[in-house]
Amino acid sequence: MGESAKVEIGGKGTDYAVRSGTVGPDVIDIRKLYANTGAFTFDPGFTSTASCESEITYIDGDQGILLHRGYPIDQLAEHSSFMEVSYLLLNGELPSKSELETFTHTISRHTMVHEQLTTFYRGFRRDAHPMAIMCGVVGALSAFYHDSTDIADPHQRMVASHRLIAKMPTIAAMAYKYSIGQPFLYPRNDLSYTGNFLRMTFGVPAEEYVVDPVIEDAMDKIFILHADHEQNASTSTVRLAGSSGANPFACIAAGIACLWGPAHGGANEAALNMLREIGTPDRIPEYIARAKNKDDPFRLMGFGHRVYKNFDPRAKVLSKAASDVLDRLGISDPVLDTARELERIALSDPYFIDKKLYPNVDFYSGVILSAIGFPTTMFTVLFALARTVGWVAQWNEMISDPEQKIGRPRQLYTGAAQRDYVAVDKR
Ligand code: SDX
Repeated sequence: MGESAKVEIGGKGTDYAVRSGTVGPDVIDIRKLYANTGAFTFDPGFTSTASCESEITYIDGDQGILLHRGYPIDQLAEHSSFMEVSYLLLNGELPSKSELETFTHTISRHTMVHEQLTTFYRGFRRDAHPMAIMCGVVGALSAFYHDSTDIADPHQRMVASHRLIAKMPTIAAMAYKYSIGQPFLYPRNDLSYTGNFLRMTFGVPAEEYVVDPVIEDAMDKIFILHADHEQNASTSTVRLAGSSGANPFACIAAGIACLWGPAHGGANEAALNMLREIGTPDRIPEYIARAKNKDDPFRLMGFGHRVYKNFDPRAKVLSKAASDVLDRLGISDPVLDTARELERIALSDPYFIDKKLYPNVDFYSGVILSAIGFPTTMFTVLFALARTVGWVAQWNEMISDPEQKIGRPRQLYTGAAQRDYVAVDKR
């Protein structure tokens, strides 16, 4: 019998098994707590709650470690590719050369979208936020792919997963093209996943688009760094939607909607807008003071994290990539100087030190994306594009879990006690 935890309520004690994972905090299995005690746990925001068992990603927030199927993110960013990391997240092991070729070929043959979807785009105003378009279009995919919505069929689940991973770049590029009034470009099977996306985004029918290998490499690295991240808000949304048996396209659309929030994936757009608003380093103290002011809702976007209480390892890779990309493109963006000065000042300020607030994945990504040529409104779209593989990997893991059941949290009710209806003329 392993270690157990005792809960005493009303003089009655009940024991609950303590389970250990491969690495990381133990969990107290409280699935019988309500049946035994009539009481719920209370944990808004789930700061102390494990919602599931997973083998996909592990984060050590104190050490600033991020592992995908055991492989450190800095090694994957340095040596792997987004297609290879996608295979790893979905299948649990790094692919052989032929497995990677087959996977990449399969994904590339799903990159086209139904031609009717181009009509769907025309229903939006040209100035619609690309994330609004993504929410609508991805949710609409279930109207086109009835042959891969049977979640009980592992083959259909994998086809739907491949379709989602493959079509997100096409849908994202179309959202951008629509917003600038340029024609959509069809995907090309002779280009890499990321090169294909860059051509569909920045190419025009009037001339050949030549993929710049430096930009392709930086973009692919950004996709790797955003691929998955344990049970974050949007992944938890996908799992909760999937627990009802909803089709995978609807689940991913729900994840996109959640990611859009500025406290989550929307922070990359908000962080660059904040850096541009700050403008020059001499204005940084004013914003640091606002971030520390309890009466001011302003927060330093791109700083802080629910799990990382040390540097976000992705931010470290992106910080270096930002310098590399701007140097290679011959761009000197004052925003990068402001970002570095803001980081230096914040990390020497007791408020940020005490609260363990470090730059996160969203702090530097916008500088690189802006240098590549994306408008800030596309930043979270790119986050969603990359995170789709994490969402579908986590969704597949949940659906395949024999113990999974519909997610249905309870509550602490503090509303009115039962009372009788009062006719309007007696109120
Ligand atoms: C992502 O979960 C994931 O894994 C997410 C993500 C992923 O890959 O999926 O990593 C992607 O979402 C990264 C985070 C992007 N968001 C931002 O950069 C927005 C700014 N950051 C904050 O809103 C905040 O830090 C959160 C939302 C990221 C985390 O919030 P928590 O864990 O709920 O922490 P908290 O809000 O309770 O903050 C703790 C304290 C508070 O002060 P006190 O109430 O204790 O006095 O730190 C303060 C906060 O006021 N604080 C900040 C701050 N972040 C937290 N103060 C100023 N600026 C900030 N950015």
